[in-house]
Amino acid sequence: MGKKTESSDDRELFESYGRLINPSYPSFLAKLGLGNVAARAQGATITDSQGRTFIDCIGGYGLFNVGHNNPEIVQALTDQLREQQLFTKPFITEVQVRAAECIEEIAPGALTCSFILNSGSEAIDCAIKLVRLHRGGKTIITAQRSFFGHTFGALSASGIPSFNRSFRPLLPGFINVPFGDAEALERSITEETAAVMIEPVQHEAGVVVPPDGYLQEVRNLCDRHNLILILDEIKTGIGKTGRMFACEHFGIVPDILVLGKSLGGGLVPIGAVVAKESLWKRFGMSFPMSASSYAGNVLACRAALSTIRFITGSGVMEECARKGELLLGAFRQCVGEYPDILRSADGLGLLIGIETQGGKVTLELAQEMIKQGVLTVPAYGNSSVLMVEPPLVISVEQIRTVVDSFTAACAKVDHTGRK
Ligand SMILES: Cc1ncc(COP(=O)(O)O)c(C=O)c1O
Repeated sequence: MGKKTESSDDRELFESYGRLINPSYPSFLAKLGLGNVAARAQGATITDSQGRTFIDCIGGYGLFNVGHNNPEIVQALTDQLREQQLFTKPFITEVQVRAAECIEEIAPGALTCSFILNSGSEAIDCAIKLVRLHRGGKTIITAQRSFFGHTFGALSASGIPSFNRSFRPLLPGFINVPFGDAEALERSITEETAAVMIEPVQHEAGVVVPPDGYLQEVRNLCDRHNLILILDEIKTGIGKTGRMFACEHFGIVPDILVLGKSLGGGLVPIGAVVAKESLWKRFGMSFPMSASSYAGNVLACRAALSTIRFITGSGVMEECARKGELLLGAFRQCVGEYPDILRSADGLGLLIGIETQGGKVTLELAQEMIKQGVLTVPAYGNSSVLMVEPPLVISVEQIRTVVDSFTAACAKVDHTGRK
């Protein structure tokens, strides 16, 4: 697979992709103005087959906190392959134990036990099963507009009807209440409630930072009613919000923490469940909890280990807060300047959403920015929100380019709308 020099080669690839893999995806990309395949990626940039380089503010929807092809993670994985210690079952491997020790070190509170799986969705299903192991078939309360993944358990728990409507009947045992409303949550708790599962910051329906005191109140309610609190930090974890986990901003610790995405260094598929020891006792006694064939494989564990070392040792997490403030401050200024097309901007660290006056405006802004070499995309679950979530390694200079690009896109779209 050498470097493509002809875009006609890409057309052939797009046609085959549409025919063999996903018929609707090429037209989605074409709508955004992305007509070429990716050639290489490094840090916060992706270069396509025609040599066009983009600043990546999509960040693989949360995979690339450490940047694309982070040299330290690539080296660690290469070493792992060279060492040829790729066996797992029935053996225990050192790297799996070291990854668990490392997760124990960074996990908040007394979350000491963990298990690495193959995706965030699988880890969510594992957390749901952990609740069922302890509380039987009782209900799990989740939030409206939440998104937990694509497997049946995760999809059934999710609160975006347009995502799960086509797959009914869903698994029973979940109810959704409004996010950010602790009173609504309290009203929905009954004798039949086992757990509460939420994201600390919602994102798929636009970036929704909870109101002050909400997460603390959720923790209090769980304590008072003896409910298990599960936090899905698949997106918000591993430094994305300027802390290792978003729950640290709110001073709370869940009973089960679910991780994924960037934990694999943007290179290896991964999910992880982290829990209190008291909830873990039954874990090993149940074959379907840990039997997934590739679960705990050494490449995923090595990726997690080196990713955590990079995040804790490189300073990117500390810089993330400042970079996020730069972006959010500039976006909010644009909201003030372009009220006809923008409504608000919100976020935490480098997870930011800009709410526009509608899906048409969001798409036009994304198209304009892509023309200028900055990748952004509307939220899947809310076309009125433009998502901006670059890798943590984005430079301040690149942030300035993103801001200039967004400002220029606003001027253009605002002007077009007035014509
Ligand atoms: C908050 C959240 N939970 C769960 C998932 C599912 O993770 P995965 O795609 O690795 O299965 C996602 C993925 O987008 C997510 O953002």
